Amino acid sequence: MLPNVARRSVVRGVGGYLPPKCITNADLATNLDTTDEWIVERTGMKQRHVLADGQNTSDLAAEAAKLALADAGFDVQTIDLIVVATVTPDHPFPATAARVQAKIGASKAFAFDVNAVCSGFIYALSVADQYLKTGMAKRVLVIGADAMSKIVDWNDRATAVLFGDGAGALVLEAVDESHVDYERGIHSTHLFSDGCHYDLLYVNTDLATAAQPGHVHMQGREIFKSAIKLIGEAVETVLSSNNITIADIDWFVPHQANLRIIEGISVHFKIPMEKMVVTVDRHSNTSAATIPLALWEAARDGRIQKNHQVVLEAMGGGLTWASALVKW
Ligand code: UT7
Repeated sequence: MLPNVARRSVVRGVGGYLPPKCITNADLATNLDTTDEWIVERTGMKQRHVLADGQNTSDLAAEAAKLALADAGFDVQTIDLIVVATVTPDHPFPATAARVQAKIGASKAFAFDVNAVCSGFIYALSVADQYLKTGMAKRVLVIGADAMSKIVDWNDRATAVLFGDGAGALVLEAVDESHVDYERGIHSTHLFSDGCHYDLLYVNTDLATAAQPGHVHMQGREIFKSAIKLIGEAVETVLSSNNITIADIDWFVPHQANLRIIEGISVHFKIPMEKMVVTVDRHSNTSAATIPLALWEAARDGRIQKNHQVVLEAMGGGLTWASALVKW
């Protein structure tokens, strides 16, 4: 029986990785009936990174993990759990987390994947937090990694322009209530699902019939409306659960699906855009990777600093939606 001690999951390191190959809106417009103006006006996206030949999701995840470990200054052998949020695993099995484990040499860890689509990183963070708080793990790598270029239909202008590939990672460590860092870390996570609306956003691959590989299908307008409503609920929940207001928050790190959704949340909650970390213009929607990539960018350039209060929020296929409060 583990002793009943209060613990908090504190962020010790952050890393990110974008594959070098980059596709601009103008590149897309050479093959699709679209324009740079349409994509920028409707989404805020200007470019996206995609896998190079021979690269796979676990390669992106492993690079982000190595940087996060270096940032934490931790020996890889001290990691006892790896959770990868992804909807684009290297293979149906084994888990991409196990592939990452082998690639970074984390031989003492156990490893598994979480699938909650664009909310996946917050789901993975929540899972990791439970292991850390109960004492089942001491140091955890949480990774959001997706290679959406593998599953979009490059002939469908309605979806091909929206997605990109990348990975971001956090290293978390459990500290107990006697530790100087106990007030930092993950204060709460809030996870929601509604499987009744799966048909708004899904991939039509059918492993039972082994039909030809499927692609992302999305009812864009409906998802847009749901995103504003459900993200709003998730943000209200994280604020009320922690008894705080918008004024107490230093940074909002939203899922990056569309600049208009981020601006909508900003207007609805009266959050100044300067407090929003925005990467959608350069990364597009990297699914589970958007939030850790944004954290990596904002921590690296000095915006997010120690003890800052950071709200994370996301919404995606499932439907799933989620929020979290992290004191950096
Ligand atoms: O990460 C998971 C969550 N995902 C999201 O939250 C995405 C939510 N949805 C969206 O971001 C937006 O709905 C989209 C960016 C996908 C689409 O923007 P929209 O303003 O909702 O456009 P729409 O789907 O209503 O389409 C408007 C028009 C249509 O033409 P008609 O029917 O008005 O003639 C589309 O066929 O724009 C057309 N269209 C395009 N035109 C040029 C759709 N895609 C393109 C394109 N280039 N790439």
